[in-house]
Amino acid sequence: KIFSDGSPSAKLMIIGEAPGVDEDIQGRPFVGSSGLLLNSMLRSISIERPTDCYITNILFWRPPGNRSPTNSEIAACLPFVWRHIELINPKIILLLGGTAAKTILGSKEGIMKLRGHWANIMLKEEKRPIPCMPTFHPAYLLRQPARKKETWQDLRAIKTKLLEH
Ligand code: URA
Repeated sequence: KIFSDGSPSAKLMIIGEAPGVDEDIQGRPFVGSSGLLLNSMLRSISIERPTDCYITNILFWRPPGNRSPTNSEIAACLPFVWRHIELINPKIILLLGGTAAKTILGSKEGIMKLRGHWANIMLKEEKRPIPCMPTFHPAYLLRQPARKKETWQDLRAIKTKLLEH
């Protein structure tokens, strides 16, 4: 099972979809080609792995044949994902791709609509809302590099909020 990477005390928590084959082999999230792109995206806002962020996925295993996670797989992992967010208690969450965005925000909208807009989540044990920024998944950006422009705007918004008190 692939659980997380990075620093549990980081202000920024990043949630992706599910591990791929490279992640399966290395036992850490976002270490394949998506991970390399994610690293350079983060570096563009001076976020270095593993110190400045904490990374996890909605699913802790790779769906057979790398297919999209089913609703029941997502439902099976969700209590752990919520508890994980509570334990890390980040200042901000970056949601990578439609699966993470829809699942965490409880939205039926696709990533095209959701990205670029802050949305707050409330945790049971926390008295404060946690702002979440959905953006495109790096695997999508590898296929659609023209979309990097929007992701860059989303990352700038993340950086600005991280610097706020
Ligand atoms: N894509 C994801 O969503 N998560 C990973 O860990 C790797 C690729």
